[in-house]
Amino acid sequence: MNLTQKILNAHLVSGKPVAGEEVSIRIDQTLTQDSTGTMAYLQFEAMGIGRVRTMKSVAYIDHNTLQTGFENADDHQYIQSVTKKHGIFCSKPGNGICHQVHLERFGVPGLTLLGSDSHTPTGGGIGMLAIGAGGLDVAVAMGGGAYYLTYPKVVGIRLSGKLPYGVAAKDIILEVLRRLTVKGGVGKVMEYIGEGVKTLTVPERATIANMGAELGATTSVFPSDEVTRAFLKAQGREADFRELAADADAEYDEIVDINLDTLEPLVAQPHMPDNVDTVKNVGPIKVDQVFIGSCTNSSYQDMMRVARILKGKTVHPDVSLVIGPGSKQVLTMLARNGALAEMLGAGARILESACGPCIGMGQSPKTNAISVRTNNRNFYARSGTASAGIYLTSCETAAITALTGVLSDPRTLDLDLTVEQPKEFEVNDNLVIPPVAEGQEDTVDVVRGPNIKPFPLGHDLENAVTGKVLLKMEDNITTDHIMPSNAKLLPFRSNIPHLADFCLTPVDETFPARAKEEKGGILVAGANYGQGSSREHAALVPLYLGIRAVAAKSFARIHQANLINNGILPLTFADEKDYDRIDQGDTLTLPGIREKIEAGEEILELKNETKNETYAVKMPLTERQRGMILSGGLINYIRSHS
Ligand code: F3S
Repeated sequence: MNLTQKILNAHLVSGKPVAGEEVSIRIDQTLTQDSTGTMAYLQFEAMGIGRVRTMKSVAYIDHNTLQTGFENADDHQYIQSVTKKHGIFCSKPGNGICHQVHLERFGVPGLTLLGSDSHTPTGGGIGMLAIGAGGLDVAVAMGGGAYYLTYPKVVGIRLSGKLPYGVAAKDIILEVLRRLTVKGGVGKVMEYIGEGVKTLTVPERATIANMGAELGATTSVFPSDEVTRAFLKAQGREADFRELAADADAEYDEIVDINLDTLEPLVAQPHMPDNVDTVKNVGPIKVDQVFIGSCTNSSYQDMMRVARILKGKTVHPDVSLVIGPGSKQVLTMLARNGALAEMLGAGARILESACGPCIGMGQSPKTNAISVRTNNRNFYARSGTASAGIYLTSCETAAITALTGVLSDPRTLDLDLTVEQPKEFEVNDNLVIPPVAEGQEDTVDVVRGPNIKPFPLGHDLENAVTGKVLLKMEDNITTDHIMPSNAKLLPFRSNIPHLADFCLTPVDETFPARAKEEKGGILVAGANYGQGSSREHAALVPLYLGIRAVAAKSFARIHQANLINNGILPLTFADEKDYDRIDQGDTLTLPGIREKIEAGEEILELKNETKNETYAVKMPLTERQRGMILSGGLINYIRSHS
């Protein structure tokens, strides 16, 4: 077996472990971040389960850390109190970005991790099977429920050789994205194999696993070997180590060969992470801002390489350099060993250890800016400045670019860039608040400020669903389009009525008003609808606006699951050409839908009343998903089954 199969099969609860079949697995650990977490905990409470039933659940507060009003602070207080009551550890603001901290302090090779953040697969760097899901799936897992997924195909990414000078782990994953594209990983796990794996540190593996999310992959996984042991030992957690690898004769559905010796510095250009070219080909474009940080590239070793490049130099006068070390551990170590002083000396602006600019939480670039960043996504308008162009690179490329003011190749540096892993990381978990002991739950009051609003619930599916096409969209609509997530909106993640006024406004500003006027309707979209972050709000907010169905050429995996979880029908055109026949404003009907779903029919009729045409649409559902769609979502389904 390959390693993916070994871990999955050891956690199998139901289903046949055959690619394409639905299986359910036991979840050992969960993580949430605050932006999806408030809702996940509201949902967890709605299920009426007292204490979490996982081995470890951690709530991180790392996304909405700006406090320019009461909203974020209210959410933080809600999370801190609700977690304390229900058996969950809470990592307070300032402790760091969820994936970086989880890797450092909680990740365990061979365990399963379900997180309400699409970059949860970062845990694959330490040999976990770590999957990003909607907050509701995570709430169910916290309650001891299994996680349902399609048993994946496994792609062996075989690394040989060793990275040349100035070329980084980030360039490996950019190369994978260049070859496979943002759709290349759908339904697959990327398993890293081959001699080249040994040459990569745990944080480097984590960078690669992190951006596997941009391939649309279920997750990515690395073996757990002596490099992993050394990392865990340096974190004071050697006891958590377990050696894990694929069998020598393991089989893979596909093999992708990458010779590390031949790689060069790469850059993903606006506005897609797979729009990759070499730094050399893109050339010395003028840069206005550089951001180094995020869950992709903010480890101790990343930061030390950056400090080395900046040492004794000055940031270019036209560039704003912002650096966000990934965790309190990293920042403390940089402060102690003087590297932080080197960064400050060069003119860097140091941010708290949080997601920050990656999620548009501060540091939006100026109009028409070119911003070089080390994070994982460069989608349109995600930075908070729609006219800005975001280029994704390694830390080394970003740091030298900050000095020269133009996109630059780090291979021209004449510095030793090797950074050894410290023998001991500085461990201080005083910002992780443990839950009360079992039996003490009643001693904790959950605090709900005015920003904590009830969330919408679906209702039983009727036998005919009818609605106007409220919006017709192109291919590759992201969850950032559906529910923008900028500094102004992030404080309202637990306030759906407020968010509704911004739903799909990057596509059409008049959409929310139209949806309200029509009292809901249907959406039509092109291919890969809902790609990007796992945010469940991209389903919850349309549900609040009365969206009953989305007819698309295809869906991104997590978003499709989120739609079903919330009782919205994800319909895929059997013949993509039918997409062209529908216009915005047409009235569509799904006749006899309830009976057909009850009968297990997977091909449904979508009638265009306006044009008097009928199209075939597909909605393959498992038995459990059928139950969810019929009862109007997962919470209703769980309530009616418990
Ligand atoms: Fe945060 Fe950006 Fe990662 S929002 S979790 S740093 S993708």
